[in-house]
Amino acid sequence: MSKPVLLTLCGSLRAGSYNRMLIGEAVRAFGEAEVIEGDLKLPLYDGDVEAKGVPSSVQALMDQTSRADALIIGAPEYNKGISGVLKNAIDWLSRAKPSVLADKKAVILSAAGGRTGGETAHFMTHSILTQLQVNVIHGPLILVATANEAFDEEEHLKSDFLRNQVNDRMTRLREMIG
Ligand SMILES: Cc1cc2nc3c(=O)[nH]c(=O)nc-3n(C[C@H](O)[C@H](O)[C@H](O)COP(=O)(O)O)c2cc1C
Repeated sequence: MSKPVLLTLCGSLRAGSYNRMLIGEAVRAFGEAEVIEGDLKLPLYDGDVEAKGVPSSVQALMDQTSRADALIIGAPEYNKGISGVLKNAIDWLSRAKPSVLADKKAVILSAAGGRTGGETAHFMTHSILTQLQVNVIHGPLILVATANEAFDEEEHLKSDFLRNQVNDRMTRLREMIG
């Protein structure tokens, strides 16, 4: 049987992103899978560009999304909102016809510098995905606060509580994918 396909979407482009570390924790917790790291360095959505033809980088992400059994999304919080990088990627993905998002399973995770762990960005991401008919796997919000202190040198979560939350969510996802 082929391995489940996980597509990771990190809303931060920087190399040392804590959201990418959190995605890494989730991918490890899931176990055996084909993991594709989505490249969110996309042109800004522009209807005129779209009218001339979807850019190849966007088309690649659409194809990867279509193939994926689940999306693992890292949603950083910028100014109490979703990052422009993540919103832009979702905007492009929402334009695929037929939809590549409807009924797609997804797990949202947030790591942020502040004390709320990116709760607002998490809620916003959830709200956007819900109206796109993405099947977000529910449960207690996975929020990593003061992210600069939350990971060890191997980029693993230090907190047993958070690691268990991630493990539980990924176990549920694995069961749902079957
Ligand atoms: C423009 C900007 C706005 C930010 N606004 C918030 C915020 O509203 N809440 C928060 O908790 N952290 C905020 N931060 C801190 C980020 O959460 C922190 O830099 C985090 O590490 C970003 O995610 P990353 O590590 O995946 O890049 C902000 C950072 C930037 C650059």
